[in-house]
Amino acid sequence: MVSLRLMKYLFPESFLWGAATSAYQIEGSPLADGATPSTWHEFTHRRGKVQDGTTGDVACDHYRRFDEDIRHMRDLGLKAYRFSTGWTRIFPEPGSVNQRGLDFYDRLVDSLMGAGITPLLTIFHLEEPVWLARGGGFTQRTSVDHLLELGKALMRRLGDRVRTWCTINEPSLYAFQGYATAEYPPAHRFDLRGMFHCAHHLLLAHARLVEACSALVRDGQIGLAHYYVDVAPANPARDRDVEAASFMDTMANGVALSPLFSGAYPEGVLRRMGRFFPAGFDRDLPSLRNLGTYLGINYYRRNRYRHSLFTPFLHAAEYVEASAPHTAMGDEIYPAGLFKALMRLKNELGNPPCIITENGPPIPDVEGRDPLDDDGRVAYMADHIAQLGRALLEGSDCRGYFLWSLLDNFEWSKGLSMRCGMIHTDFATQKREWKKSAFWYRDLISRGWLEHAALP
Ligand code: FCB
Repeated sequence: MVSLRLMKYLFPESFLWGAATSAYQIEGSPLADGATPSTWHEFTHRRGKVQDGTTGDVACDHYRRFDEDIRHMRDLGLKAYRFSTGWTRIFPEPGSVNQRGLDFYDRLVDSLMGAGITPLLTIFHLEEPVWLARGGGFTQRTSVDHLLELGKALMRRLGDRVRTWCTINEPSLYAFQGYATAEYPPAHRFDLRGMFHCAHHLLLAHARLVEACSALVRDGQIGLAHYYVDVAPANPARDRDVEAASFMDTMANGVALSPLFSGAYPEGVLRRMGRFFPAGFDRDLPSLRNLGTYLGINYYRRNRYRHSLFTPFLHAAEYVEASAPHTAMGDEIYPAGLFKALMRLKNELGNPPCIITENGPPIPDVEGRDPLDDDGRVAYMADHIAQLGRALLEGSDCRGYFLWSLLDNFEWSKGLSMRCGMIHTDFATQKREWKKSAFWYRDLISRGWLEHAALP
């Protein structure tokens, strides 16, 4: 029988209720005011790379309409807004700062402050300059200095107003999708050397950016946004599946988190794949032990694995439980995984301050459904936010929740049709309209509590 007991999950007054976006996904005008192409700009213009054939050339035209978008944020009552900066707007070439690019973010930050919204700025969110990629991108150690230069330029110009920083969005996923699955540029497949080199250099850049922040930003808060995957065995009663899942957890979560928390890569990963790491990587490890002041968690999915000898190095094959609920992007929806992640942080990693920097489902249009009727998003948010409330009751130090996303936007290799926003974007007219979830979120933020079926 289903329990009907309701529970009121309360959130502190200071809780950062927000929404997240990223530059390429919303801005449009990718080459305006002196910017040069990013790898995503190039990639989306290659046939067959984006599922629905769209690009970020216009996206939400936010570069020209940011004032209107900030009015929506204010009307929603958002306390905070997470956005990212286009690297090539600021460094069209290595070494020379483009003031016009910085001016845009300066205006954006001023408008946010004027609306009483706390900015959370992500320095690197998947958008690599073509000039960097030509020289090998993040597989090369020199990339660390380039990313540090970007971060410093941003901190110097905006650090008097932007106090909360995110160094890098999803280092592990960026490395994995760019060098193992070919879903992101540079679209290599099974290039384990590229993948581990890229991940290592991103973590190194994170550590350097944290140091820069303490020198350049007074009272700065800084962390990275980790793509957290809840990993489970296909059959929990089968030891070899349990082992396979535990190894895949070290791949998905351990490779990015262990260096931050303990200055080491997981032993099992080094044993099987140590040869793919950059030479002398271990000399960097002590400096990688630098979380910053909080950990960002992007939470979207559970992955299940079974043991498989046919998968080289990993010995694990993904198993999809067809009866489990999945989003249109194929993510298994598993709200309890968010609670588990927060408890893991609390019980195993010293309970650092953390922020849910992304969470939310895509809901593509279907014939016959009003696109503003997104009950599925409301249910998804309620189920995840209740798990967060439950974690707070258990002592988690989670300080904020950012919905992905503020408005429908360009969803990387899936294109414009995924529709991840609580605000509907009509891509032909650029008209914004609130979906049901936007009204629901506004009410939740103003109330500060969520009533939900009691969780076990
Ligand atoms: C995350 C990305 C974000 C968006 C969501 C749906 O992995 O950080 O840019 O694409 O997925």
